[in-house]
Amino acid sequence: MYLPNKRPENMQRINTPELAEAFINEQVALVREQVGDKKVLLALSGGVDSSVVAALLIKAIGKQLVCVHVNHGLMRKGESEQVIEVFQNQLDANLIYIDATDRFLDLLKDVSEPETKRKIIGNEFVKVFDEEASKLKGISFLAQGTIYPDIIESDGVKAHHNVGGLPEDMQFELVEPVRLLYKDEVREVGRALGLPRGMVDRQPFPGPGLGVRCLGAITRDRLHALREADAILREEFDKAGLTDKVWQFFTVVPDFRSTGVKNGKRAFDWPVIIRAVNTVDAMVCTVPEIDWAVLKKITDRILAEVSGVCRVLYDLSPKPNATIEWE
Ligand code: XMP
Repeated sequence: MYLPNKRPENMQRINTPELAEAFINEQVALVREQVGDKKVLLALSGGVDSSVVAALLIKAIGKQLVCVHVNHGLMRKGESEQVIEVFQNQLDANLIYIDATDRFLDLLKDVSEPETKRKIIGNEFVKVFDEEASKLKGISFLAQGTIYPDIIESDGVKAHHNVGGLPEDMQFELVEPVRLLYKDEVREVGRALGLPRGMVDRQPFPGPGLGVRCLGAITRDRLHALREADAILREEFDKAGLTDKVWQFFTVVPDFRSTGVKNGKRAFDWPVIIRAVNTVDAMVCTVPEIDWAVLKKITDRILAEVSGVCRVLYDLSPKPNATIEWE
């Protein structure tokens, strides 16, 4: 390992394209020195950290990097497609795409307890990744998108990545090129590497994904409604210039129905809840006052375009007392 465990006191904050460029050149040289002609494996979720590490390593070692993207079926609309488009089609990466949707959704069937859902998703993720890794030959290194807050806050474990516990017999040396960087610096490096804005400036997205927003026991139809409603929310927030102004926003679909009327007939459909928060540290949050016209447009679109939904609600609860996620 060529990087120290502690960020040197005189290390400059990477906040300009020039500084990002210099960092990239330095890391490219270090990674080449560390890895030589060996192969490196990376679990590429499509989140900011793993995407920046992937782009950096592609620049440094090209096809010696093997990226594995596991789609657990709980991604937002278009996310796995974007990973494939950017890394396979544009950056010509060595990318293995695994659609494990059925495995995850079958295991989650009838499971309603939130922490059990999280455990199932986390464990299965490691299992799928390990199975894939053990099929590959000649891998010597494991790359990780560990960033400095992971080191300070959780003992160097990439806490929000579901890849935590690799089995004992899989002992790789780690490659962690952004481990001394703060999140804003990782984003600056990502921009300098030419990654799309939507990927670099992405809002936080929990490892269990839509799994904790499709409340209670996940069903495929409710998950579909959630994904479509979330895509509409993101599209309309973007059009209204809110994407950079609101810290995190998403939809939630609870596991109950309410009465409605559709085409003159009585319906019994799900509500969609819109959740939006502003915060500095995710510990204390306020709820932004979204323009009524924007909320109305989103409501109209969700009711018209998403089947199985008859109501749209806006969650007005700050944290505390509410948490950001609903479960
Ligand atoms: P809460 O709901 O605790 O969320 O106010 C605080 C932040 O953490 C995210 N979050 C998670 N991230 N795995 C994750 O990787 C999880 O299980 C998880 N639960 C919550 C949440 O999206 C918010 O940004």
